[in-house]
Amino acid sequence: MNNKNFAIFASGNGSNAEVLCRYALKYNYPLKFVFSDKKDAGVLSRMDKLGVEHFSIEKNKMSKIDYERHILDTLKEKDIKWIFLAGYMKILSSSFLNEFYDPNLKLNRVVNIHPSLLPSFPGKNGYGDAFDYGVKVSGVTVHFVDDGIDTGPILLQESFVRDSNDTLESFKTKGLELEHLIYPKALDMIMNDQIEVYTR
Ligand code: GRF
Repeated sequence: MNNKNFAIFASGNGSNAEVLCRYALKYNYPLKFVFSDKKDAGVLSRMDKLGVEHFSIEKNKMSKIDYERHILDTLKEKDIKWIFLAGYMKILSSSFLNEFYDPNLKLNRVVNIHPSLLPSFPGKNGYGDAFDYGVKVSGVTVHFVDDGIDTGPILLQESFVRDSNDTLESFKTKGLELEHLIYPKALDMIMNDQIEVYTR
């Protein structure tokens, strides 16, 4: 597919979103907007500074179906083909993901960055769970999103070493630095049709 229009979804601080935006601007990739489910998310002020189109819709009392329908309307209006989740804290429903199913790739055109070496430590607290477990090596993963929690096919993974004197904070810092390196690499792969996932 030639049309690679994409959007970034983020709920919080937005450091990954900012790195992706800067990279997209530098390489002229078709980033159309950044969306947040939180109107006061840090990511939105980052986008203000970068001059990237952004908006938020809060769910409030809307049903999940109505909420996602609102988001989908905007995605369709802007002809978005790919979604990059960057610290987006809501689970996307199967029917939402189905709208982005690509029969040629046999994947949903929705990717996420997760702060652990999946399949270890899925869920909301990847760094904390890996650190508490006592891992000596951890890492970060970019994967396609499927119906499970952090279970989709893996596009990219890189590891880092935990040193004996690492605190949770320094452990997270190492991980986040790696995230900022690999998410742009994943963007490159997708924009340049270099997707490869390993299956059995
Ligand atoms: C990152 O650790 C990412 O892996 C996880 O949420 C965090 C978002 O950080 N999904 P930021 O908002 O990009 O700074």
